[in-house]
Amino acid sequence: MIMELRAGKYFIDGLEVQHLAKKYGTPVYIYSAAAIIERYHHVKRCLGGDSIKLMYACKALTNPVILKLFQSLGAGLDAVSVEEMELGLGAGFLPDDIIFTPSMVGDEDYDRAVEAGVRINVGDLPALEYMNARYPNYPVCVRINPHVLAGGHQKISVGHKDSKFGISIHQMHEVLNMINARNCKVEGLHMHVGSDIQADEQFLYALEVLFKTAENFKDLTYVDIGSGYKISYKADDSSSDLEKIGSFLKEKRRGLESILGRKIELLTEPGKILVSESGFFLCSVNTVKRSPTRTFVGVNTGFNHLIRPMLYDAWHEIVNVSNPDGEKEKVDVVGYICETDTFASNREINLTSKGDLLVFKNAGAYGFNMGSNYNSKFRPPEVLIFEGKDYLIRRREEMKDLIKSVVDPMLF
Ligand SMILES: Cc1ncc(COP(=O)(O)O)c(C=O)c1O
Repeated sequence: MIMELRAGKYFIDGLEVQHLAKKYGTPVYIYSAAAIIERYHHVKRCLGGDSIKLMYACKALTNPVILKLFQSLGAGLDAVSVEEMELGLGAGFLPDDIIFTPSMVGDEDYDRAVEAGVRINVGDLPALEYMNARYPNYPVCVRINPHVLAGGHQKISVGHKDSKFGISIHQMHEVLNMINARNCKVEGLHMHVGSDIQADEQFLYALEVLFKTAENFKDLTYVDIGSGYKISYKADDSSSDLEKIGSFLKEKRRGLESILGRKIELLTEPGKILVSESGFFLCSVNTVKRSPTRTFVGVNTGFNHLIRPMLYDAWHEIVNVSNPDGEKEKVDVVGYICETDTFASNREINLTSKGDLLVFKNAGAYGFNMGSNYNSKFRPPEVLIFEGKDYLIRRREEMKDLIKSVVDPMLF
């Protein structure tokens, strides 16, 4: 348990939550390094230990201090933009430990990735064409679209036939023709079918397709299985059976190695499962508004800081830290953004009043990183707890941050 209640007070990794809120103000993101480290080792052990490399999907949480933590653990990095790639290089990842998996980017981004020397994962035929023509000696990875509908929400299901991601398995002959005609090298094969995959069977089926497809790629040296591992957000929620996936992988990899006659490196790109539980988002109650039909708990944040509930109906447990023993009440927890801005609807939480401190759990992945300055609000600080101490790893924004890139030509 990362956050625990002891003698009426909540603690994260031994530090009192009220104290952290007072020290850094709210809203604030708090991360537990111990939880990240534990998750990293757990996931790696279950999926195959030394026989699999975890390429942290840093889109989940890109603070450079977190990147350095993963680098120190021996992880690689999955970067979906050249900006993430550059943050990764800055954090000390070697180019070969970074896989660049872009979607619909311009040629210049491939140029930058080639210059950096990272692994490049190509997910469309024109990009493959470009890479082959411009850099015939640069080996690439090919992202396939296995035509599998998997993912917890339609917006995060990305391996189905109508998704923009990956090259359709029905177009593999075109990829293979290109390889034969140009003598170019495809060293890796990749898929990522979605996040929050509800049933292991969907993932195993997609893996089956990936490994079957891999048999046709004679120069292959690695297979990247993407991610999508499901975590539990609520007490009765299920999570992916990593050990089952691990033993399936072992069998598939052995089969592929015997067909291709060489060792195959296995990569996976977990994001959420590594950082979600480590993160807590603290905010304060600005007001409690009782209407004839609802009770609204209005907090000093909004979807500008945590968009998952509004974007894809994500569920975050909300704890009223200020009233641990209070009676329960069904409320709508809403943000201050001048649009519908609902974190939780008809949710039972301990009775709230103005000034109470609330904690959103499972906020480490796709929390801060999907934040914005919408409504001209400042982004919150990030704090990392490491070995019993709290460290500010990103300060709260100020007015100067909002205007620092504005160029005023003095027209008015
Ligand atoms: C290419 C790629 N790999 C890995 C991930 C990480 O997925 P998850 O956070 O579900 O582990 C994503 C996230 O969408 C992704 O786009």
